[in-house]
Amino acid sequence: MAVTRTFSIIKPDATRRNLTGAVTKMLEDAGLRVVASKRIQMTKEQAEGFYAVHKERPFFGELVSFMISGPVVVQVLEGEDAVKRNRDVMGATNPADAAEGTIRKVHAESIEANSVHGSDSDENAKIEIDYFFKPEEIVG
Ligand code: CMP
Repeated sequence: MAVTRTFSIIKPDATRRNLTGAVTKMLEDAGLRVVASKRIQMTKEQAEGFYAVHKERPFFGELVSFMISGPVVVQVLEGEDAVKRNRDVMGATNPADAAEGTIRKVHAESIEANSVHGSDSDENAKIEIDYFFKPEEIVG
């Protein structure tokens, strides 16, 4: 299976509870390697742009407010079939539906404060990585 990359965000609910290391360990234990990482405070414009695909959704405003409510850690993850591997270890969007042992089952507080974001396709992974990282910031 091919080694690919995906994009991850450790969300404000997780950074607030000092879970950056705990979440990263779960990613690493799932076979993913952190090849880029930075802790940032997203601007409103940055969050609106990142989630533009959801802008007609009723939760868009709250989603943007939440994502700028504190620091996030944006990461590029590398591994075999990275998008699927990451989505498997993240668990379902709503922690109430997430499987045992997944990041969202263990750590998420709600469907909004769900601790992590992960790209849903290779195509979106590339777009999302490019949104936050310059090529020289990624060291595989
Ligand atoms: P994420 O993978 O970051 O992509 C969009 C986010 O919207 C999603 O995770 C959820 O955290 C958030 N969200 C908030 N409310 C809802 C909702 N009602 N349905 C789906 N996603 C929601």
